[in-house]
Amino acid sequence: TPPAIIAPSILSADFADLGAACSKTISQGADWLHVDIMDGHFVPNLTFGPPVVVKIRSHVDKPTQAYGKGTFDCHMMIAEPKKWVKEFKNAGCDLYCFHYEAANSSAAESPEAKSDEKTSPRELIRYIHDNGMLAGIAIKPATPVDVLWDILENPDEKERPDMVLVMTVEPGFGGQKFMASELPKVEALRKRYPNLNIEVDGGLGPSTIDQAADAGANVIVAGSAVFGAKDPAEVIALLREAVDK
Ligand code: DX5
Ligand code: ZN
Repeated sequence: TPPAIIAPSILSADFADLGAACSKTISQGADWLHVDIMDGHFVPNLTFGPPVVVKIRSHVDKPTQAYGKGTFDCHMMIAEPKKWVKEFKNAGCDLYCFHYEAANSSAAESPEAKSDEKTSPRELIRYIHDNGMLAGIAIKPATPVDVLWDILENPDEKERPDMVLVMTVEPGFGGQKFMASELPKVEALRKRYPNLNIEVDGGLGPSTIDQAADAGANVIVAGSAVFGAKDPAEVIALLREAVDK
């Protein structure tokens, strides 16, 4: 398993003082910032768009290397992921993680979708890479891990994802209960790909981290567990130790 990467989800931060919350969590030991983008369509909730990302980017140093400290990990819970690639690159996103379900079906099935908005996961990964970002692919609890094998086995590295995100709650809201039922997906991925960055998101904290780490996850998102903690630095350290032990 690659080294731990701790990515607090700013969905649970104080939105009235977001810049300060972001720089503070990095100084408390966080590696990445997990930025949840929701469009009220792919998920039943709304968060924020590029202008907010631009502002918080100025409060956090840009990573000096791929996957470095300060990486903006944008979790795109949106129905039309291709449409927003350039805007999020310009806003300061480093890793653009789209949902398999959106790339594959939602946009394509929607009658309003223009033909250039219909795109396969591998085309979208190439497009994200061509735009200078790392590419992640996320799956919801209802999506079997098997849909990823073809995508991960692509011999063309331009079309291979840099990270897989296994959702451990239904996407849309912070503070939900961790779904251990999703961990076999992480185990199957880790077994085949010892060096892959595997991210888990939803319900992670001191009481659930051991299960996720044992399954093989190394990129750990935590919203309420970090921002709701008395001592966030201690929680970040604990999450890291569980993965790196
Ligand atoms: C949920 C988001 C998560 C959320 C996690 O749709 O993708 O990133 O903020 O929050 P916690 O850690 O509180 O479950
Ligand atoms: Zn998320």
